[in-house]
Amino acid sequence: MEFQLLPGGVISGEVRVPGDKSISHRSIMLGAIADGVTLVSGFLEGEDALATVAAFRAMGVTIEGPDAGELAVHGVGMHGLQPPLSPLDMGNSGTSIRLLAGLLAGQSFSTELSGDASLCKRPMGRVIDPLRLMGARIESAGAGTPPLRVHGGQRLQGIHYDLPMASAQVKSCVLLAGLYAEGRTSVTEPAPTRDHTERMLRGFGYPVASENGVISLAGGGRLKATDIDVPADISSAAFFLVAASIAPDSDLLLTHVGINPTRTGVITILKLMGADISLKNQREVGGEPVADIRVRYAPLRGIEIPLEQVPLAIDEFPALFIAAACADGRTVLRGAEELRVKESDRIAAMAAGLATLGVECEVLEDGIIIDGGPLGGGVIDTYHDHRIAMSFAIAALRAESVIRVLDCDHVSTSFPGFDALARGLGLQISTRVD
Ligand code: S3P
Repeated sequence: MEFQLLPGGVISGEVRVPGDKSISHRSIMLGAIADGVTLVSGFLEGEDALATVAAFRAMGVTIEGPDAGELAVHGVGMHGLQPPLSPLDMGNSGTSIRLLAGLLAGQSFSTELSGDASLCKRPMGRVIDPLRLMGARIESAGAGTPPLRVHGGQRLQGIHYDLPMASAQVKSCVLLAGLYAEGRTSVTEPAPTRDHTERMLRGFGYPVASENGVISLAGGGRLKATDIDVPADISSAAFFLVAASIAPDSDLLLTHVGINPTRTGVITILKLMGADISLKNQREVGGEPVADIRVRYAPLRGIEIPLEQVPLAIDEFPALFIAAACADGRTVLRGAEELRVKESDRIAAMAAGLATLGVECEVLEDGIIIDGGPLGGGVIDTYHDHRIAMSFAIAALRAESVIRVLDCDHVSTSFPGFDALARGLGLQISTRVD
């Protein structure tokens, strides 16, 4: 599938983008090992979260739905998962495989976890290392990549783990293994990362301490089913925060968006660039802060992106690079080497696409320098990465000629219906299926 985009357009209207991917995954995982029935609404019916649903069904968990974002997870308790009959296919989803590696390390049965070509290139040593320190037996392919074989029947010990990189997936993996370990498991992180696992565990009645930067829990407890209202995903909203910021005359309201402070780097960075973004109707829904976000066109200027914002905007950099390309002056990003091991090498993939559009940029080992200027048109390769595809789609708002974005199938991993929704808001997008 490819996107074809006519240049120009104005973004306006009111919309609720699909549910948060991180929270959707966790609602299934924790719901499955809880006692009782967890009702989830606002669930993201994207391929990544559906891979998590399929994995738990394969382990004997009854999950009704999803139907219009609603599902019911019939929890089987901490020790009620059943051995799956075949390897669990995690598709494109790094969150599924890394969090499940932790959760499955403490089971009585063995499992094999695999995924698509992109996932099978991503580093798993970062979860294997701490799990082995806890006593897990886990093997990967030679390059430290999937498939993973997680051996059951191991006794896990609580450890303290000082995360070598800012990764919520690694933190969550260790904490989920910690549920099954003897004693306390604790982690420290080099910088705060998304804390949905900690918040949701507490929502399920499981105590998680967070003091002086040390996050910890004791193994051996139980989770009590709860209801979860998944907010709209700020990572999906980000494309429209940028779209409305760069397209003159735009005025957009994004409703019910999750604004967890560990996720709002994109708002902070865009505001530093001069964006006109305001939060309305701030409230808390099921332990997660939520707001309606109004964004209006404003001329942007290049900035040096503050280092501490990097983990708080880690998934939003492809969209932010488009903002930088449309800004006046130079934007510098450093300290973002994690972007190289996402669904694609996002620094290289974005630099290649920006160069196609005639934008000046310099690739750094851990970031990029982008000089704002006019955007031409051209044919963009997405490297099978959903966020690269959506970023270049919105770039068309400021392009001088047509943009074709090739290979957009992966958009449905995180944002099913992106093209129709974007068209409704004013993006001149059409889809061609080969
Ligand atoms: C996620 C954590 C981040 C993020 C990913 C989702 C999560 O990955 O990029 O999209 O749900 O925990 P890392 O932990 O690799 O930074």
